[in-house]
Amino acid sequence: MEFLQRTHKCGELRGSDANKEVVLNGWIHRVREHGGIVFINLRDRYGITQIAVDDASPAEAREIAKSLKMEFCISVMGKVRLRPDNMKNPDMPTGEIELSAQRIQILNKCETLPFMIDEVNKDGSPVIANEDLRLKFRYLDLRTARMQKNIAMRAKASLAVRNFMYSEGFYEIETPTFIKSTPEGARDYLVPSRLYPGKFYALPQSPQIYKQLLMVSGFDKYFQIARCYRDEDARGDRQPEFTQIDIEMSYVKRDDVLALNEKLMATVFKDVMNVDIPLPIRRIPYDDAIALYGTDKPDLRFDMKMQDGSFMADLSDFTLFKTAVAEGGIVKALVVPGMAEKYSRKMIEELEGAAKIFRAKGLAWTKVAGEDSAPTLEGGIGKYFENSAAEICQKLGAKKGDLLLFTADTAKVACAALGAVRSKLGKDLGLCDPNRFEFAWIVDFPMFEWNETENKWDPAHHMFTMPQEQYHDTLESDPGSVKGDLYDMVLNGYELASGSIRIPYPELQQRIFDIVGYKKEDAEMKFGFMTGAFKYGAPPHGGIAFGLDRLVMIMAGESSIRDVLPFPKNTFACSPMDESPATVDEAQLKELHIKIVD
Ligand code: AMO
Repeated sequence: MEFLQRTHKCGELRGSDANKEVVLNGWIHRVREHGGIVFINLRDRYGITQIAVDDASPAEAREIAKSLKMEFCISVMGKVRLRPDNMKNPDMPTGEIELSAQRIQILNKCETLPFMIDEVNKDGSPVIANEDLRLKFRYLDLRTARMQKNIAMRAKASLAVRNFMYSEGFYEIETPTFIKSTPEGARDYLVPSRLYPGKFYALPQSPQIYKQLLMVSGFDKYFQIARCYRDEDARGDRQPEFTQIDIEMSYVKRDDVLALNEKLMATVFKDVMNVDIPLPIRRIPYDDAIALYGTDKPDLRFDMKMQDGSFMADLSDFTLFKTAVAEGGIVKALVVPGMAEKYSRKMIEELEGAAKIFRAKGLAWTKVAGEDSAPTLEGGIGKYFENSAAEICQKLGAKKGDLLLFTADTAKVACAALGAVRSKLGKDLGLCDPNRFEFAWIVDFPMFEWNETENKWDPAHHMFTMPQEQYHDTLESDPGSVKGDLYDMVLNGYELASGSIRIPYPELQQRIFDIVGYKKEDAEMKFGFMTGAFKYGAPPHGGIAFGLDRLVMIMAGESSIRDVLPFPKNTFACSPMDESPATVDEAQLKELHIKIVD
C-alpha cells in the first residue's frame, strides 16, 4: 500500500515548528471526542503528539477520525499549530503544539487489545497486566513507555560498553555457542547432533574456556557481549538465556582487572544515566562481608552492620546463646535504630521467617527502653539480661528506642540468617533508594567450598581460578583456608560481575583438579583441549564477566531481569508467546536418533 511517510517523529515538534506541513506515522495512544473535535494522541518510539480533527480538517479526515480506535497504526498529514495558552501541556515535550489533521490514512487496524498500553490508575500509577499475559503479547507489552525505556537503556548500555572497550584497545571476538559439555556449575542445555548419533553439543554457560584460549592465541584484550545458557531454577535475577559482558586480559594482576572494570562501570553510568560513580570502588574482603552483612552481595545503600554479640553468652543463663558459643558458634547482633516502637511481635515474626529460610532456629529480640544513661531491655530476651543492659547497649552502640535482633548458631548460619533479616529490613524500611548505586568489590574469596552432600571440596568459583600465592604450599593440606585470586563486583545487593586471575600452569591446574576430585583421565577428557593449550606458553591472564541483564535491571530500577529483556522466558522457563519449549515432529526426532521415553 502506498502511504504517506513521516517527515517528523512524534516527539519532535515544538512551538517553533508552527505552520509547518508535516506527516507523522504512529499508533493511536488515546482518542477522544470533545465538543465535536476528535483529539488523537499519536505515539511512536520518540514521543506523543496531539492531533486535532476539527472544522479546519476536510470532511474525509473527519469521517475517518470517527472510526479510529486505540493502537490503529495511522499516518497523518497536517499543519502544526500552536495550542491556545490554556490548552498547552507543559508535561509533554510536544505540549505547546498540535497537528491540525488534513489527511488521515489508516495503515493498519488493531483488534481489541488484551490489555491497554500504558493504562494508569486513578492515582496516576501504571496498571501492570498479569505477567504471563504481558509475555504472551510481548510485542504489545514492548510498546509501553516502561518497556520502551528499558530496552532503549539496554541498547545504550551495550553501546557504552563497546565504545569504552574499543577505546581501551579490546577486540570484540565471538566464541562458539555449540561447544563440548564441560562442568561449569549449572546444568547444560544440550543440542543433539544429527550427524553423530548419541552425541551432543552443549550451549555455553559462559565463554570461559574459549576466552582463556584466546589469551593463549595472543589476543591479549578480549571482550564479548555474549549470550550464555544455564539450565538452573529461574529467579528474579536469573534467566535460562542471558547476556554477559565477558572480558579477559593477558599480563595482568588483580588490580589491573579491577581498575579497568570500575572505569567501565563509571563510563556506562555516565553515558547512559549521567550518574557519577566515585572511583575507586571500595573493596571488602569476603570474610568481612559475611561478618558485617551476612552475604557476599551486600546492599550498601544502608549501613546497619551486624555485630558480634557472643559476649552476651557470658552475661546470663540464656541457653540459646550459651549453647551456640559453647559449641564453637557465635551470636550475631543487629541494632535497628529507632524501630522498637514500630516493630510489633507479629512483624518480628515475619523477620524471623526470613532468618529461618537460612536455617536459623529462631530470631531473638529485645527493645531498648529506660534512659540512655540507664537503659533497660524490654520484651523478648530482655528478661535474661536485666543486670547487663547497660553493658550490652554500650558494646553494641544501642540507644533508647532501638530494636535489637540476634541469631545464635554456627558462624555460617548465624551470619547468613541475620544477613537475610538485615536485607528484609532494608526493603521494609524503605532504605533501598533505587536512585542510589552503591558498588563494592568483594575480594579474597575462599578458593574451595565444602560440599556436605558429597563430602568433598568444590571450587567456589570455577576450577581455573588462581589460588593466592601465599597458599600454594598448603593447597592440599588445608584447602579450607585457601583464598583465591577472585573477585565479585556487587551493586545494591546483587552480584553484578564475577571474575578471577586464572591458572596458566598445567601442573598447578592438575593440583586443583585433584583437590576437587577430578580424576586425571576425567580432566583430560573434559578439559584436555584447554590444559593442552596451556603447555604452549600460556601467558598469565585474568578476567571477569558482568551480567548485562542484571546491570540494566538495576539501572532501570526494575526488580526482575525479565523487564529488561525483549523476549524473556517466564519463571517456569517457558515463553507464553511462542510456547517454547514445544514438542517436535516424530520425523525430526528420528533424524536426531532420539526417542522420548516417559
Ligand atoms: P558467573 O557464573 O559468576 O561467572 O557469571 C558472571 C555474571 O553473570 C551473571 N549471571 C546471570 N545473569 C542472569 N541469569 C543467569 N542465570 C545468570 N548467571 C550468571 C551474573 C554473574 O555475576 N565465566 C565466569 C566469569 C569469569 O570468571 O570471567 C562466569 O560466568 O551477573
